[in-house]
Amino acid sequence: MGDATIGVQVDGVSKRFSHRVKGEVYAAREVRLDVAPGEFLTLLGPSGCGKTTTLRMVAGFEKPDEGAIRFGGEDVTALPANGRGIGFVFQNYALFPHLTVADNVAYGLEVRRVPSAEVGSRVAEVLKLVGLAGYEHQFPAQLSGGEQQRVALARAIVIRPRVLLFDEPLSNLDARLRVQMRTEIRDLQRRLGITTIYVTHDQEEAMAVSDRIVVMNQGRVVQEGTAQDLYHRPANEFVATFVGRVNLVPGRIDDLVGGVASVSMLGTTVEVRSVAHGIARGDAVRVVVRPEAIGLSAAGSEGPSATVASHAFLGEKIEYGLDCGGAALQAVRYNAGPGEVLPDGAPVTLNFAEEALALLPGDGR
Ligand SMILES: Nc1ncnc2c1ncn2[C@@H]1O[C@H](COP(=O)(O)OP(=O)(O)OP(=O)(O)O)[C@@H](O)[C@H]1O
Ligand SMILES: [Mg+2]
Repeated sequence: MGDATIGVQVDGVSKRFSHRVKGEVYAAREVRLDVAPGEFLTLLGPSGCGKTTTLRMVAGFEKPDEGAIRFGGEDVTALPANGRGIGFVFQNYALFPHLTVADNVAYGLEVRRVPSAEVGSRVAEVLKLVGLAGYEHQFPAQLSGGEQQRVALARAIVIRPRVLLFDEPLSNLDARLRVQMRTEIRDLQRRLGITTIYVTHDQEEAMAVSDRIVVMNQGRVVQEGTAQDLYHRPANEFVATFVGRVNLVPGRIDDLVGGVASVSMLGTTVEVRSVAHGIARGDAVRVVVRPEAIGLSAAGSEGPSATVASHAFLGEKIEYGLDCGGAALQAVRYNAGPGEVLPDGAPVTLNFAEEALALLPGDGR
């Protein structure tokens, strides 16, 4: 589609704002991103961490105080947004209410002086692509939220952008439609092969759509990797707790041989292979135990004893709250059929899927 697929580099970019309450704040601080051609990269983080600010600098809506933005190796830091060849999809859609669907989509082509015969065919082509063929003459107010978001998507891709940018595009939709639309956005991005940066605070959405996720906190990048990297090898407590549910179980390194740590926790010993740099024998640690890494067997088996403190039957899975000698743990079991649910108060023995465990320092870093 149009230009050859290009990569995007965000090179040490910072942005300060003077804030009436907080004074001078860094909305983004030395942010570095290297987005490969055709890659789907997501910025993930809590409210106020700098996702929108970073995306707006890539778009050219905001000028960085420091650092550079490059598209396909070309420095675009000084270029205005309309010279960068970007498509931007906003959270609130930002459609023109007085224009029809077709005219909303055509707008970007008309300002680029595309010949009108070509405008018609390109608008028809993208409306078909987003599943809105036949909606040409509707006005935005006559569309559902999901349909409006499709128009916004059509409007972003009709100009054949070099880079596609999304800022929380699904947050105004209900849960079921969010799941459907995220799959459609992902499929469309794959088909078009456009380099994409996507912003969300929803970790599940990030995991579902992205090739790679960049986790931000307080204006900075804290970790980047695939969904599996972040989930299984979180670099710190922030990532461990932000990406998925987790138990951080206090423990101590009894032994460390050949990169495998023997860790005592909850009155038992586990062997952990994922040992962060700088952890040594005798250190206090926290063991990253995901809910599905806790196995439940009959009371009296070998292993730590616990009781079921709470349970929630969620259809395909059952979530348990456990009490293990005063420590609260969350566990999950996939439903194997009726009669599988353990009642509150049930005694159980715990075992751990050791290959799924990871370690963090014990001091809250
Ligand atoms: N124009 C502005 N003037 C002053 N402060 C701003 C401005 N824009 C953003 N900020 C501040 O910069 C920080 C980052 O804001 P940003 O909008 O990038 O966060 P975000 O990660 O997109 O959050 P959310 O998930 O809530 O959209 C916040 O502390 C915010 O208050
Ligand atoms: Mg935002």
